[in-house]
Amino acid sequence: MLKKMKGKFVSVSSKATEELGAQLATSLQGHETLAFFGDLGSGKTTFLKGVISTLTNCSSHEITSPTFTYMQLYEGKYPIYHFDLYRLSNAEQFESAGFSEYLGKGVCCIEWAEKIAEKLPENTIQVVIDYLEQGSREIHIS
Ligand SMILES: Nc1ncnc2c1ncn2[C@@H]1O[C@H](COP(=O)(O)OP(=O)(O)OP(=O)(O)O)[C@@H](O)[C@H]1O
Ligand SMILES: [Mg+2]
Repeated sequence: MLKKMKGKFVSVSSKATEELGAQLATSLQGHETLAFFGDLGSGKTTFLKGVISTLTNCSSHEITSPTFTYMQLYEGKYPIYHFDLYRLSNAEQFESAGFSEYLGKGVCCIEWAEKIAEKLPENTIQVVIDYLEQGSREIHIS
C-alpha cells in the first residue's frame, strides 16, 4: 500500500467512503490483509464496495456482507476474500473452518477483525472507522 493512503480521513458521505476504498484498492499489490474495525453500520462494507468494485467486475450494489457464510470469494485482478466475522465465536472457529490458509493469499478483507486479532498477519493494514455526526465518519488507515 502506498504511504499516502495512511492517515486519518474524514468522509462526509457513503459515496466518499466508497471512493476512499477505491483509492486504497489501486495502491494494493494483491497479497494484503485489510482488517476493519468499527461499530455496526459504521461503513466497513461501504468502504469495501469501493475496494472490491475497483478490483473486480462487480458493481457496488452486488457487494454485500457475507454475514451468514462468513466469507465471499471474488475473482478479479487478484482473488479477494471478503470476510464478515460478526457471527464468528472465536479465532479457533476461524481456524477450524480452514480460513487461516487464505490469509496472505490474494487480498483478504476482514470485517469484525477483532474476532481473530491474534491471527492477523504482522503487516496487516488496519482500517478503523468511527462515527462523527450524522453522515460523517473518521477513517484511520494504518
Ligand atoms: N460517511 C459515511 N461512510 C459510510 N457509510 C455511511 C456514511 N454516512 C452514512 N453512511 C451509511 O451508513 C451505513 C453503513 O453501512 P455498512 O453496511 O457499510 O456498515 P458496516 O460497518 O459494514 O456494518 P456491519 O457491522 O453491520 O457489517 C450505510 O447505510 C451508509 O449509507
Ligand atoms: Mg458490513
